[in-house]
Amino acid sequence: MRTTSRLALTGIATAAALTLAACGGSGDAAGSGDGKTMKLALNQTEDHPSFIALEAFGEELSEATDGRWDIEVYPNATLGAQDETIQLVSDGSIDLSIVSAPQLENLNKDFVVFSLPTVFDSVDTQMSTINDMDVVGDVYASLEDSHKFTVVGGITQGARSFYTKDGAVTTPADMQGLKVRVQESPVFISMMEALGASPTPMAFGEVYTGLQSGVIDGAENNEVSYFTQKHFEVAPYFSYSRHLIGADFLIAGTPVLESMSEEDRAAFDEAWQNTWKYHTELWNEATEEAITEAEAGGATFTEVDAQAFADALSPLIDQFVTTDTQRALYDGIKGAAE
Ligand code: GCU
Repeated sequence: MRTTSRLALTGIATAAALTLAACGGSGDAAGSGDGKTMKLALNQTEDHPSFIALEAFGEELSEATDGRWDIEVYPNATLGAQDETIQLVSDGSIDLSIVSAPQLENLNKDFVVFSLPTVFDSVDTQMSTINDMDVVGDVYASLEDSHKFTVVGGITQGARSFYTKDGAVTTPADMQGLKVRVQESPVFISMMEALGASPTPMAFGEVYTGLQSGVIDGAENNEVSYFTQKHFEVAPYFSYSRHLIGADFLIAGTPVLESMSEEDRAAFDEAWQNTWKYHTELWNEATEEAITEAEAGGATFTEVDAQAFADALSPLIDQFVTTDTQRALYDGIKGAAE
């Protein structure tokens, strides 16, 4: 799978969508309220905390609804890259997907706030704010009319840092001219430009071969994905810039959510609350394990001049928080975290 091209992945996603449609697929139960097994797309491996927590989500939901509603998690991007699964949820071919904040920034610029350096100062404050509907309820509902999906809530990606093929990067000066893979969104592109690097937008599933072939010199992510995606094999220098704490979101087809009885919807919401809490519990342990295993595989982890990275990135806040809605969301997150 690692060597699968984006084109092949798109083919798989399209084939998966056609099969789902031919089987009477997702969408069918919308409005019926009878329940079904919902398909959830994930781009992580089976040993990633997201997969483990989401499997538990399905089990709890099934138990709480006497088997009316269940979830089948498709890991390893088998249903497509995140931008493709957004489309599948939007058109009702599948019901659920986990997508990174920058993917939603491409649909509604207000989501940029969740990817800004310093918006969250810890995983705990991030988790308490991104699942607090008083703070995020409006933005989470903002794509329902235009794209037919609802953001249910968020899970952490932890702090993201740089990793490279040829030596650690300890100051922004070390980043000059490096080709660095970024998630496909304006704020990530601007971040790399602010550090003097050359941003290369690319889907997550292409990063390993990108590093291996030298199309890119480095990437940025958390330790868990660095290890589970085996990126440490081809970019062994992990540099702790911790330039932002990333967020993933659970998106759900709005018609499916609306088809649930009140009681089943309450069970879904409660199971979700338990899911993000369980995921947060798993996160620290998974991070420690990832560091140990990656080190055993030859990776080195280096502390950097974090203040120099933070200073270079600080202009991004004013550059990207430009509307009243964005400012209200940014201030809401900061205020709720205090
Ligand atoms: C993290 C995140 C994913 C995202 C990935 C990326 O692993 O959890 O949702 O796709 O980063 O960098 O693309």
